[in-house]
Amino acid sequence: MQALIVYAHPNPRSFNAAILKTVQEELVNKGINYRVRDLYARRFNPLLTAEEMEKIDAGHIPPDIAAEQRLITEADLLIFISPIWWSSFTTMMHGYISRVFSKGFAYGTAEAGYTMGCLGGKRLLALTTCGVTNENGENTEYFTELSDIIRHHIFGFVGMEVIHKNFIAVNFVSRDEREKMLEEIRSTIRQEI
Ligand SMILES: Cc1cc2nc3c(=O)[nH]c(=O)nc-3n(C[C@H](O)[C@H](O)[C@H](O)COP(=O)(O)O)c2cc1C
Repeated sequence: MQALIVYAHPNPRSFNAAILKTVQEELVNKGINYRVRDLYARRFNPLLTAEEMEKIDAGHIPPDIAAEQRLITEADLLIFISPIWWSSFTTMMHGYISRVFSKGFAYGTAEAGYTMGCLGGKRLLALTTCGVTNENGENTEYFTELSDIIRHHIFGFVGMEVIHKNFIAVNFVSRDEREKMLEEIRSTIRQEI
């Protein structure tokens, strides 16, 4: 199995950085080969411009996008790691998805006019973190909506089989609670991947 980790947090001291480290350790334990795309560290260009949209529509994929698409093609398992910012992935992660999941690569239009995913057969583990709390269940619907978009409308849309784990209130919980979250990630990789 070949895995590709796509990681989008600017701060190497963040909880998301600890998640990245945990995922890497557990993949090594399982003997799974992996590559990491650390989008901020690589200064990935997240801007999909008008010029680029026209080129892609005409079938000309820019070299930096073609390189990312090759890595996705070679992977059986994708692991996307990002905090939730303004109720979705970081802008960097969204820019990556907008540019790399291009028409013809990630999805296509069937003759009947509806769109269909082109990345079937790949598994996707999405790991996200939220600041928002849910002590009295007041944000249950918010978390369900976030997860629906990630599972169905982004990765499901391109045909992937998706597992999404969202960790909430990470800014407010204790060190022990965070360690439990990392343990949940370890066991997800051990048991569900
Ligand atoms: C620009 C910005 C926007 C944010 N928007 C949200 C949000 O919409 N929902 C939420 O639950 N948390 C939000 N947060 C809180 C982050 O999700 C939280 O700080 C992060 O998950 C903590 O993980 P980290 O230590 O790896 O950064 C936001 C934080 C920032 C910096």
